[in-house]
Amino acid sequence: MKIGVLGSGVVGQAIASALIEKGHSVMLGSRTARNEKTDLWVKENGARALQGRFADAAAYGELLFVALKGEHALDVIRGLDAAQTEGKTIVDITNPLDFSKGMPPQILEGLGNSTSLGEQVQALLPGSRVVKTLNTVNYKLMVNPVAVNGGDHNLFLCGDDADAKMQVKKLLADNFGWKPDLLIDLGSIQSARAIEAIVPFWVLIYRSLNSPLFNFKIVH
Ligand SMILES: NC(=O)c1ccc[n+]([C@@H]2O[C@H](COP(=O)([O-])OP(=O)(O)OC[C@H]3O[C@@H](n4cnc5c(N)ncnc54)[C@H](OP(=O)(O)O)[C@@H]3O)[C@@H](O)[C@H]2O)c1
Repeated sequence: MKIGVLGSGVVGQAIASALIEKGHSVMLGSRTARNEKTDLWVKENGARALQGRFADAAAYGELLFVALKGEHALDVIRGLDAAQTEGKTIVDITNPLDFSKGMPPQILEGLGNSTSLGEQVQALLPGSRVVKTLNTVNYKLMVNPVAVNGGDHNLFLCGDDADAKMQVKKLLADNFGWKPDLLIDLGSIQSARAIEAIVPFWVLIYRSLNSPLFNFKIVH
């Protein structure tokens, strides 16, 4: 499958490399058509690794991941042509974090109470099918859940389109090894408010454990 990854940071690169290992072709998108970081990534990941601007990656992928710096994410999304994302499933990993006031981070002003990044991405690209997930785990765990507790822990997802959520669940299971019965569907994209809001709590646990390799496990 052709996949576009908007975001060339550690998250975008981890997702893109893992997908290439599974046989997909991936375009990693950034602000510039190429740069030192993406040149190196392409060199290290072989013939199925491509690079381009955010809009190139959006147009290239049959399915898209969004892993952008939270404070700039909506500007990047606004810059896309809606036709580039029409009918596509978009996996949104972005967190609306504001680190400017110290640790733990706050949720960016205006996001979190009556809306969320996930909802805003969906609203800006109404023809797409946004699924919020993976934002509550460290990037290493996203593509290798077995690294913690043998993979026995939970991942949350939400989105308005049932078929897109099924597609993403299968993608997470087939490519990254997430156990399907441990993926918890929290309903419509509005639930992104809660899924994004637990990230400052995640940061507190990270500071306390002094390791990013942990996750939530819901027992009942
Ligand atoms: N790190 C983790 O383990 C983790 C876990 C869960 C969720 N997340 C979330 O995943 C997202 C990506 O995180 P990350 O650590 O990989 O990278 P990041 O540094 O948060 O974001 C990198 C991306 O943001 C773009 N960007 C930066 N400044 C920009 C600007 N002024 N205008 C437009 N785009 C800009 C960069 O563009 P260029 O490509 O041009 O440099 C790059 O593609 C974040 O929202 C983060 O909160 C991270």
